Amino acid sequence: MVNIAVLVSGGGTNLQALIDSERSGKITAGKITLVVASNENAYALERAKKAGIETAVIRRKDYADQDACDRALVSCLKEKDIDMVILAGYLTILGETMIAAYRDRIINIHPSLIPSFCGKGFYGLRVHEAALERGVKVTGATVHLVNEIPDGGRILLQKAVEVREGDTPEILQRRVMEEAEWILLPKAAQMLAESLEEE
Ligand code: GRF
Repeated sequence: MVNIAVLVSGGGTNLQALIDSERSGKITAGKITLVVASNENAYALERAKKAGIETAVIRRKDYADQDACDRALVSCLKEKDIDMVILAGYLTILGETMIAAYRDRIINIHPSLIPSFCGKGFYGLRVHEAALERGVKVTGATVHLVNEIPDGGRILLQKAVEVREGDTPEILQRRVMEEAEWILLPKAAQMLAESLEEE
């Protein structure tokens, strides 16, 4: 059984999808044993507590630099015997120390079809604003491995979502979450956990 940590910053709807998938038996090769938030106000922490999952808060501003924050995060994860990490709406950049400590064991959900609308500055609603500005007819979500390049790691899963007449960024974000993110992330989590179990 693989120990999974989920890193969050916001509402935690992707975390909720992971929790629900574990409960419904869609995720069997791993168990979410820790949720780490980048700020103490993240509603995702409430979701974790309701599910009886241990939580921690590691705030970038509490550390002198990126590497000190990374080292605090790595030691927190190692202390809890974490085997793999899922970024679910996590907004803090991971540095080389963290990526090296969990090479090919960190996955991220991005709310577009990479390589569109991704990289530095593309997160949250900004992604959907850019898709609507460009006038794409199809968008979607991507789960990828995390490496040193923002949204640059190997793509694991993608799912397309149609853009509809009159969509606002909020409406489109919700549809991408419901029709893509909340389906792909649990699926990718199971895939990675299964592959790590075989290692
Ligand atoms: C959303 O923009 C989602 O598309 C992206 O992170 C943001 C917050 O997600 N993955 P969550 O509700 O905190 O999971």
